[in-house]
Amino acid sequence: MSSASEISKELKSLVQEFEQTLDQASSLQDIEAARVDYLGRKGRLAEIMSKLPGLPNEERPQIGRKANEIKQELNSLLSNTISDIDKVKEDEGQALFDPSMPGRTPDIGSLHPVTKVINDICSIFVKLGFDVVTGPEIETDFYNFEALNLPPGHPARDMQDTLYISESVVLRTHTSPLQVRTMLKRKPPVAAIAPGKVYRRDSDLTHTPMFNQIEGFLVDTDVNMADLRGTLTAFAHEIFDPGVKVRFRPSFFPFTEPSAEVDISCVMCGGRGKSATGETCRVCKETGWVEILGCGMIDPAVFEKVGYDSEKYTGFAFGLGVERVAMLKYGIGDLRMFFENDLRFLNQFS
Ligand code: PHE
Repeated sequence: MSSASEISKELKSLVQEFEQTLDQASSLQDIEAARVDYLGRKGRLAEIMSKLPGLPNEERPQIGRKANEIKQELNSLLSNTISDIDKVKEDEGQALFDPSMPGRTPDIGSLHPVTKVINDICSIFVKLGFDVVTGPEIETDFYNFEALNLPPGHPARDMQDTLYISESVVLRTHTSPLQVRTMLKRKPPVAAIAPGKVYRRDSDLTHTPMFNQIEGFLVDTDVNMADLRGTLTAFAHEIFDPGVKVRFRPSFFPFTEPSAEVDISCVMCGGRGKSATGETCRVCKETGWVEILGCGMIDPAVFEKVGYDSEKYTGFAFGLGVERVAMLKYGIGDLRMFFENDLRFLNQFS
Protein backbone atom coordinates (compact mmCIF):
# COMPACT_ATOMS: atom_id res chain seq x y z
CA MET A 1 0.00 0.00 0.00
CA SER A 2 1.34 3.47 -0.91
CA SER A 3 2.08 6.02 1.77
CA ALA A 4 1.15 9.72 1.67
CA SER A 5 4.68 10.78 0.77
CA GLU A 6 4.92 8.27 -2.06
CA ILE A 7 1.66 9.53 -3.49
CA SER A 8 2.71 13.16 -3.33
CA LYS A 9 5.99 12.27 -5.08
CA GLU A 10 4.06 10.51 -7.83
CA LEU A 11 1.84 13.57 -8.21
CA LYS A 12 4.82 15.88 -8.60
CA SER A 13 6.57 13.78 -11.19
CA LEU A 14 3.26 13.51 -13.04
CA VAL A 15 3.43 17.24 -13.76
CA GLN A 16 6.98 16.99 -15.08
CA GLU A 17 6.24 14.03 -17.26
CA PHE A 18 3.12 15.67 -18.63
CA GLU A 19 5.13 18.77 -19.50
CA GLN A 20 7.68 16.66 -21.37
CA THR A 21 5.00 14.78 -23.27
CA LEU A 22 3.32 18.03 -24.31
CA ASP A 23 6.65 19.46 -25.44
CA GLN A 24 6.98 16.65 -27.90
CA ALA A 25 3.43 17.00 -29.17
CA SER A 26 3.25 18.49 -32.66
CA SER A 27 -0.40 18.10 -33.49
CA LEU A 28 -3.81 18.33 -31.87
CA GLN A 29 -4.03 14.54 -32.10
CA ASP A 30 -0.82 14.18 -30.03
CA ILE A 31 -2.23 16.54 -27.42
CA GLU A 32 -5.51 14.70 -27.27
CA ALA A 33 -3.65 11.41 -26.79
CA ALA A 34 -1.68 12.96 -23.91
CA ARG A 35 -4.85 14.29 -22.32
CA VAL A 36 -6.48 10.86 -22.39
CA ASP A 37 -3.32 9.27 -21.02
CA TYR A 38 -2.96 11.66 -18.06
CA LEU A 39 -6.36 13.19 -17.36
CA GLY A 40 -8.74 10.61 -18.83
CA ARG A 41 -11.15 8.53 -16.78
CA LYS A 42 -8.65 5.65 -16.68
CA GLY A 43 -5.61 7.93 -16.94
CA ARG A 44 -2.57 8.21 -14.72
CA LEU A 45 -4.04 10.89 -12.43
CA ALA A 46 -7.15 8.80 -11.89
CA GLU A 47 -4.96 5.85 -11.04
CA ILE A 48 -3.13 7.81 -8.34
CA MET A 49 -6.42 9.19 -6.98
CA SER A 50 -7.72 5.64 -6.63
CA LYS A 51 -5.12 5.04 -3.96
CA LEU A 52 -6.46 7.82 -1.68
CA PRO A 53 -9.08 5.71 0.17
CA GLY A 54 -6.24 3.50 1.45
CA LEU A 55 -4.58 6.40 3.36
CA PRO A 56 -5.07 7.02 7.07
CA ASN A 57 -7.95 9.41 7.80
CA GLU A 58 -5.80 12.33 8.94
CA GLU A 59 -3.62 12.30 5.79
CA ARG A 60 -6.39 11.95 3.24
CA PRO A 61 -7.67 15.60 3.08
CA GLN A 62 -4.21 17.05 2.57
CA ILE A 63 -3.27 14.65 -0.24
CA GLY A 64 -6.71 15.08 -1.74
CA ARG A 65 -6.20 18.83 -1.95
CA LYS A 66 -2.78 18.32 -3.46
CA ALA A 67 -4.23 16.00 -6.10
CA ASN A 68 -6.79 18.62 -7.07
CA GLU A 69 -4.09 21.27 -7.44
CA ILE A 70 -2.13 18.93 -9.69
CA LYS A 71 -5.21 18.32 -11.76
CA GLN A 72 -5.66 22.05 -12.30
CA GLU A 73 -2.02 22.42 -13.19
CA LEU A 74 -2.24 19.65 -15.78
CA ASN A 75 -5.32 21.29 -17.28
CA SER A 76 -3.69 24.68 -17.63
CA LEU A 77 -0.57 23.11 -19.18
CA LEU A 78 -2.92 21.47 -21.64
CA SER A 79 -4.76 24.62 -22.71
CA ASN A 80 -1.52 26.61 -23.04
CA THR A 81 -0.13 24.00 -25.37
CA ILE A 82 -3.27 24.01 -27.51
CA SER A 83 -3.21 27.79 -27.98
CA ASP A 84 0.55 27.64 -28.75
CA ILE A 85 -0.07 25.18 -31.53
CA ASP A 86 -2.91 27.31 -32.90
CA LYS A 87 -0.63 30.35 -33.00
CA VAL A 88 2.21 28.57 -34.72
CA LYS A 89 -0.12 27.25 -37.40
CA GLU A 90 -1.67 30.66 -37.98
CA ASP A 91 1.80 32.21 -38.21
CA GLU A 92 2.70 29.70 -40.83
CA GLY A 93 -0.36 30.80 -42.73
CA GLN A 94 -2.17 27.51 -42.22
CA ALA A 95 -4.80 27.70 -39.54
CA LEU A 96 -6.39 24.46 -38.42
CA PHE A 97 -8.12 24.01 -41.77
CA ASP A 98 -6.64 23.81 -45.22
CA PRO A 99 -7.79 26.76 -47.33
CA SER A 100 -6.54 25.10 -50.50
CA MET A 101 -9.20 22.37 -50.22
CA PRO A 102 -12.01 22.77 -52.79
CA GLY A 103 -15.18 24.20 -51.27
CA ARG A 104 -18.51 22.41 -51.12
CA THR A 105 -20.59 23.20 -54.22
CA PRO A 106 -23.93 24.66 -53.22
CA ASP A 107 -27.03 23.03 -54.72
CA ILE A 108 -28.31 25.09 -57.61
CA GLY A 109 -32.06 25.17 -58.19
CA SER A 110 -33.64 24.64 -61.57
CA LEU A 111 -36.98 25.33 -63.18
CA HIS A 112 -39.84 22.96 -62.41
CA PRO A 113 -40.77 20.89 -65.49
CA VAL A 114 -44.24 22.46 -65.48
CA THR A 115 -42.71 25.96 -65.47
CA LYS A 116 -40.41 24.90 -68.30
CA VAL A 117 -43.32 23.72 -70.42
CA ILE A 118 -45.27 26.94 -69.68
CA ASN A 119 -42.26 28.97 -70.81
CA ASP A 120 -41.78 26.83 -73.92
CA ILE A 121 -45.43 27.07 -74.95
CA CYS A 122 -45.67 30.81 -74.32
CA SER A 123 -42.53 31.53 -76.29
CA ILE A 124 -43.81 29.57 -79.29
CA PHE A 125 -46.91 31.80 -79.35
CA VAL A 126 -44.96 34.97 -78.61
CA LYS A 127 -42.96 34.22 -81.77
CA LEU A 128 -46.27 34.06 -83.64
CA GLY A 129 -47.19 37.52 -82.34
CA PHE A 130 -49.29 36.67 -79.26
CA ASP A 131 -49.02 38.74 -76.05
CA VAL A 132 -48.77 37.03 -72.66
CA VAL A 133 -51.56 38.06 -70.26
CA THR A 134 -52.45 36.87 -66.73
CA GLY A 135 -55.31 37.36 -64.28
CA PRO A 136 -56.67 36.40 -60.85
CA GLU A 137 -57.14 32.82 -59.65
CA ILE A 138 -60.15 33.89 -57.61
CA GLU A 139 -62.83 34.85 -60.11
CA THR A 140 -66.37 36.07 -60.09
CA ASP A 141 -69.14 34.02 -61.59
CA PHE A 142 -69.37 36.62 -64.36
CA TYR A 143 -65.86 36.04 -65.77
CA ASN A 144 -65.67 32.31 -65.12
CA PHE A 145 -69.16 31.45 -66.43
CA GLU A 146 -71.65 34.09 -67.39
CA ALA A 147 -69.62 36.10 -69.90
CA LEU A 148 -68.56 32.78 -71.44
CA ASN A 149 -72.12 32.00 -72.41
CA LEU A 150 -72.72 29.89 -69.31
CA PRO A 151 -75.65 31.58 -67.56
CA PRO A 152 -76.76 30.42 -64.09
CA GLY A 153 -78.45 27.04 -64.27
CA HIS A 154 -76.77 26.13 -67.58
CA PRO A 155 -76.22 22.38 -67.58
CA ALA A 156 -72.69 22.75 -68.95
CA ARG A 157 -71.62 24.32 -65.65
CA ASP A 158 -71.64 20.77 -64.30
CA MET A 159 -68.85 19.86 -66.73
CA GLN A 160 -66.50 21.61 -64.33
CA ASP A 161 -66.50 20.63 -60.67
CA THR A 162 -66.35 24.14 -59.31
CA LEU A 163 -64.84 25.13 -55.97
CA TYR A 164 -67.03 27.95 -54.65
CA ILE A 165 -65.85 30.67 -52.28
CA SER A 166 -69.31 32.20 -52.15
CA GLU A 167 -72.34 32.02 -54.38
CA SER A 168 -70.82 34.43 -56.90
CA VAL A 169 -67.08 33.95 -56.29
CA VAL A 170 -65.18 30.85 -57.40
CA LEU A 171 -61.66 29.52 -57.84
CA ARG A 172 -61.42 29.76 -61.60
CA THR A 173 -62.11 26.40 -63.22
CA HIS A 174 -60.30 27.32 -66.45
CA THR A 175 -58.22 30.11 -67.97
CA SER A 176 -61.05 31.15 -70.30
CA PRO A 177 -62.02 34.12 -68.02
CA LEU A 178 -58.84 35.68 -69.38
CA GLN A 179 -60.46 35.85 -72.80
CA VAL A 180 -63.18 38.01 -71.26
CA ARG A 181 -60.85 40.16 -69.17
CA THR A 182 -58.53 40.82 -72.11
CA MET A 183 -61.28 41.53 -74.62
CA LEU A 184 -62.92 43.99 -72.23
CA LYS A 185 -59.63 45.89 -72.08
CA ARG A 186 -58.47 45.73 -75.69
CA LYS A 187 -60.01 46.30 -79.11
CA PRO A 188 -59.36 43.87 -81.99
CA PRO A 189 -57.07 42.79 -83.43
CA VAL A 190 -56.10 40.86 -80.28
CA ALA A 191 -53.85 37.82 -80.00
CA ALA A 192 -53.05 36.69 -76.47
CA ILE A 193 -51.71 33.69 -74.61
CA ALA A 194 -52.70 33.30 -70.96
CA PRO A 195 -51.04 30.77 -68.61
CA GLY A 196 -52.43 30.15 -65.13
CA LYS A 197 -53.42 27.83 -62.33
CA VAL A 198 -56.97 26.49 -62.36
CA TYR A 199 -58.94 24.58 -59.75
CA ARG A 200 -61.50 21.79 -59.81
CA ARG A 201 -63.11 19.56 -57.21
CA ASP A 202 -61.47 16.48 -58.59
CA SER A 203 -58.69 14.24 -57.33
CA ASP A 204 -57.58 10.84 -58.58
CA LEU A 205 -54.78 9.22 -60.57
CA THR A 206 -55.13 11.59 -63.50
CA HIS A 207 -56.71 14.65 -61.84
CA THR A 208 -55.42 17.07 -59.20
CA PRO A 209 -57.52 19.82 -57.57
CA MET A 210 -55.08 22.38 -58.98
CA PHE A 211 -53.45 22.22 -62.38
CA ASN A 212 -52.18 24.59 -65.05
CA GLN A 213 -53.84 25.65 -68.26
CA ILE A 214 -52.82 27.88 -71.10
CA GLU A 215 -55.50 29.81 -72.92
CA GLY A 216 -54.84 31.24 -76.35
CA PHE A 217 -57.13 33.35 -78.50
CA LEU A 218 -57.08 35.57 -81.53
CA VAL A 219 -59.75 38.01 -82.72
CA ASP A 220 -59.67 39.98 -85.96
CA THR A 221 -61.66 40.39 -89.14
CA ASP A 222 -61.80 37.21 -91.25
CA VAL A 223 -60.38 34.75 -88.76
CA ASN A 224 -61.56 31.25 -89.63
CA MET A 225 -61.25 27.62 -88.64
CA ALA A 226 -58.35 27.11 -91.05
CA ASP A 227 -56.36 29.72 -89.10
CA LEU A 228 -57.08 27.78 -85.92
CA ARG A 229 -56.02 24.49 -87.49
CA GLY A 230 -52.88 25.97 -88.98
CA THR A 231 -51.85 27.68 -85.75
CA LEU A 232 -52.42 24.64 -83.53
CA THR A 233 -50.78 22.23 -85.95
CA ALA A 234 -47.69 24.43 -86.15
CA PHE A 235 -47.70 24.61 -82.35
CA ALA A 236 -47.92 20.79 -81.93
CA HIS A 237 -45.05 20.30 -84.37
CA GLU A 238 -42.93 22.81 -82.51
CA ILE A 239 -43.58 21.64 -78.93
CA PHE A 240 -43.48 17.88 -79.66
CA ASP A 241 -41.98 16.90 -82.96
CA PRO A 242 -42.48 17.95 -86.59
CA GLY A 243 -43.45 14.36 -87.34
CA VAL A 244 -46.38 14.31 -84.90
CA LYS A 245 -49.84 13.91 -86.46
CA VAL A 246 -52.64 16.27 -85.42
CA ARG A 247 -56.40 15.63 -85.66
CA PHE A 248 -59.44 17.76 -84.83
CA ARG A 249 -62.48 16.01 -83.34
CA PRO A 250 -65.86 17.76 -83.08
CA SER A 251 -66.73 18.66 -79.50
CA PHE A 252 -68.76 21.12 -77.47
CA PHE A 253 -67.94 24.18 -75.37
CA PRO A 254 -70.54 26.86 -74.60
CA PHE A 255 -68.12 29.66 -75.53
CA THR A 256 -67.02 28.32 -78.93
CA GLU A 257 -68.98 27.30 -82.00
CA PRO A 258 -67.98 25.15 -83.72
CA SER A 259 -65.84 23.44 -81.09
CA ALA A 260 -63.20 20.76 -81.36
CA GLU A 261 -60.80 18.73 -79.33
CA VAL A 262 -57.31 18.26 -80.67
CA ASP A 263 -55.47 14.95 -80.49
CA ILE A 264 -51.90 14.23 -81.44
CA SER A 265 -50.53 10.87 -82.47
CA CYS A 266 -49.32 9.19 -79.27
CA VAL A 267 -45.73 10.20 -78.59
CA MET A 268 -45.11 7.10 -76.45
CA CYS A 269 -45.94 4.43 -79.02
CA GLY A 270 -45.57 6.56 -82.15
CA GLY A 271 -49.31 6.22 -82.81
CA ARG A 272 -49.14 2.43 -83.17
CA GLY A 273 -51.11 1.79 -79.98
CA LYS A 274 -48.64 -0.91 -78.98
CA SER A 275 -45.10 -0.86 -77.66
CA ALA A 276 -42.24 -2.36 -79.68
CA THR A 277 -42.73 -5.61 -77.73
CA GLY A 278 -46.44 -5.70 -78.55
CA GLU A 279 -47.85 -4.54 -75.20
CA THR A 280 -50.83 -2.20 -75.06
CA CYS A 281 -49.73 1.45 -74.85
CA ARG A 282 -50.89 2.74 -71.46
CA VAL A 283 -50.76 6.38 -72.52
CA CYS A 284 -53.15 6.24 -75.48
CA LYS A 285 -54.90 3.03 -74.38
CA GLU A 286 -54.20 1.47 -77.75
CA THR A 287 -56.01 4.19 -79.73
CA GLY A 288 -52.79 5.75 -81.04
CA TRP A 289 -54.07 9.25 -80.17
CA VAL A 290 -53.94 11.48 -77.10
CA GLU A 291 -56.01 14.58 -76.45
CA ILE A 292 -54.06 17.76 -75.72
CA LEU A 293 -56.56 20.62 -75.87
CA GLY A 294 -60.02 22.01 -76.46
CA CYS A 295 -60.68 24.79 -78.97
CA GLY A 296 -63.13 26.41 -81.33
CA MET A 297 -64.35 29.60 -82.97
CA ILE A 298 -65.34 32.13 -80.31
CA ASP A 299 -69.13 32.18 -79.96
CA PRO A 300 -70.74 35.52 -81.03
CA ALA A 301 -72.54 35.50 -77.64
CA VAL A 302 -69.14 36.05 -75.96
CA PHE A 303 -68.41 38.99 -78.28
CA GLU A 304 -71.74 40.55 -77.26
CA LYS A 305 -70.74 40.36 -73.58
CA VAL A 306 -67.45 42.19 -74.15
CA GLY A 307 -68.80 44.75 -76.61
CA TYR A 308 -67.15 43.43 -79.78
CA ASP A 309 -69.15 43.71 -83.02
CA SER A 310 -69.90 40.06 -83.80
CA GLU A 311 -70.84 40.96 -87.40
CA LYS A 312 -67.41 42.39 -88.01
CA TYR A 313 -65.11 40.18 -85.99
CA THR A 314 -64.41 36.49 -85.69
CA GLY A 315 -61.87 34.68 -83.58
CA PHE A 316 -60.58 31.39 -82.31
CA ALA A 317 -59.71 30.22 -78.82
CA PHE A 318 -58.08 27.17 -77.28
CA GLY A 319 -57.25 25.91 -73.81
CA LEU A 320 -54.64 23.27 -73.09
CA GLY A 321 -53.54 21.37 -69.99
CA VAL A 322 -49.91 22.06 -69.18
CA GLU A 323 -49.26 18.99 -67.02
CA ARG A 324 -50.66 16.80 -69.76
CA VAL A 325 -48.30 18.28 -72.32
CA ALA A 326 -45.41 17.96 -69.84
CA MET A 327 -46.23 14.27 -69.22
CA LEU A 328 -46.22 13.55 -72.93
CA LYS A 329 -43.15 15.62 -73.63
CA TYR A 330 -41.03 14.07 -70.86
CA GLY A 331 -42.62 10.62 -70.75
CA ILE A 332 -43.92 10.96 -67.19
CA GLY A 333 -46.49 8.35 -66.25
CA ASP A 334 -47.88 9.78 -63.02
CA LEU A 335 -49.43 13.25 -62.74
CA ARG A 336 -48.73 13.39 -58.99
CA MET A 337 -44.96 13.51 -59.62
CA PHE A 338 -45.32 17.19 -60.50
CA PHE A 339 -46.68 18.10 -57.09
CA GLU A 340 -44.64 15.93 -54.70
CA ASN A 341 -41.43 17.97 -54.95
CA ASP A 342 -39.25 14.90 -54.77
CA LEU A 343 -35.74 16.14 -55.59
CA ARG A 344 -34.83 12.83 -57.25
CA PHE A 345 -37.54 13.64 -59.79
CA LEU A 346 -36.94 17.39 -60.07
CA ASN A 347 -33.14 17.08 -60.44
CA GLN A 348 -33.65 15.25 -63.71
CA PHE A 349 -34.80 18.53 -65.25
CA SER A 350 -31.87 20.69 -64.19
N1 PHE B 1 -61.93 26.19 -71.07
C1 PHE B 1 -62.03 24.89 -71.68
C2 PHE B 1 -61.78 23.85 -70.60
O1 PHE B 1 -61.22 24.15 -69.60
C3 PHE B 1 -61.04 24.71 -72.80
C4 PHE B 1 -61.30 25.62 -73.95
C5 PHE B 1 -60.73 26.86 -74.03
C6 PHE B 1 -62.15 25.18 -75.00
C7 PHE B 1 -60.99 27.70 -75.12
C8 PHE B 1 -62.40 25.99 -76.06
C9 PHE B 1 -61.82 27.25 -76.12
O2 PHE B 1 -62.14 22.69 -70.76
